[in-house]
Amino acid sequence: METNHIIELISGRYGLVPRDDWSRRLESTLQTMVENPRAGVNDVQLDAMLRECIAPLTVPESYFFRHPEQFKVLVEYVRQRLRDLAPGERMYFLSAGCAEGQEPYTIAMAFADHLSPTDLSRIVIFGSDINKHYIAKAEAGVYANWSFRGMDEATIQRHFTRREDGQLEISPRIRDMVKFKCLSVQEHLTLFVPSWFDGVFFRNVGIYMNAEAQKGLYRRIRFVLRSGGLLFVSPSDMPPDRKQFVHHPDESAAVYVAREHEPEEVPLSPRVTPTMVRQPFHEATVAAADAAVAKPEDPQDYIERGQANMEGGLYEEAAADFRQAVFLNESDHIARYWYAFSLQQSCMPRRALIQVNHLVQKLVAVQPQSTLLSDGLTTAEELLRAVVDLRTRIR
Ligand SMILES: C[S@@+](CC[C@H](N)C(=O)[O-])C[C@H]1O[C@@H](n2cnc3c(N)ncnc32)[C@H](O)[C@@H]1O
Repeated sequence: METNHIIELISGRYGLVPRDDWSRRLESTLQTMVENPRAGVNDVQLDAMLRECIAPLTVPESYFFRHPEQFKVLVEYVRQRLRDLAPGERMYFLSAGCAEGQEPYTIAMAFADHLSPTDLSRIVIFGSDINKHYIAKAEAGVYANWSFRGMDEATIQRHFTRREDGQLEISPRIRDMVKFKCLSVQEHLTLFVPSWFDGVFFRNVGIYMNAEAQKGLYRRIRFVLRSGGLLFVSPSDMPPDRKQFVHHPDESAAVYVAREHEPEEVPLSPRVTPTMVRQPFHEATVAAADAAVAKPEDPQDYIERGQANMEGGLYEEAAADFRQAVFLNESDHIARYWYAFSLQQSCMPRRALIQVNHLVQKLVAVQPQSTLLSDGLTTAEELLRAVVDLRTRIR
């Protein structure tokens, strides 16, 4: 693949505006790829390859308590919201384009300093970045002085220990509050159902993107934010659309409140490509269907008969089989996927969507994401991608 083609792909996929030095910066990564060629590149490998190429093109500039006024707004908002929530209900936050973790760790520190331990246990923070080196650094949680520009000494003392090499290491307590993922913001946002988040940080990331990509991402962020949830950008970022967000009453902070409305599904371009669930249809034979009739209480038999029915285009019959398989084993995510799939094929979008939303919630909670599911072939992450793609096709 030519350098210019890769630059076009990166720019198209991630919305980033190419810079003059990109060809030069890409040289050594491309050289490594030429030396270690992959046989046949599928879409998922292409994603991984582009993420590798993008690594030398990104800028990790970040520091703790950047735009400090925003964290006051955040803590105040969370305190109020926790009072309104049912006991045990959680609040979710995302730092998209989190660089080496300074931003999500700041969120964690702000909460640790102002919430009770019980309230703290109800907070979940995700951090993601397209650059795997930054995510590795974030997970390690070790920083040089430059990252502490915005921080007072007392806060540093509370949450870091100084190492022999002079760098500061974040406390395990704060580190454990953040779940990191190496994903583009485009990919990460597709993994969440509507109204999932209470707050999304998307600061100093959009500035590297073209206007259309930024607008698309704001729309998508509105989709995953609950009404009244907060969007944090940087003062130098393009503000979001007023139809979707209003400025927070504290106008000094670049914080926006998601307007009240029923969020619509906003497909991202490009979509996350599903890794097809790897159990092939053709293995579901008529013989399996007969076997299913002989032993009707085994969920696997229903799955096989359902697949045979799907092969024959009998989607409603297939849906009835998969429904039975799910009834017999509620935690079989693969069976539920096929149930949702056959419902969608049978023009039952509402029912398909219920199953899909249920699956997304269950699958994001599977740790590690590389866990193999009931077919012994498909990982939780792969099925999640397939489910997310299915959702984009439900109309
Ligand atoms: C300047 S840093 C901002 C870090 C942090 N949000 C802050 O404001 O301090 C920009 C980060 O965005 C990441 N980035 C750029 N494009 C991205 C994309 N499409 N998806 C996810 N991360 C992206 C870069 O790798 C980099 O770590």
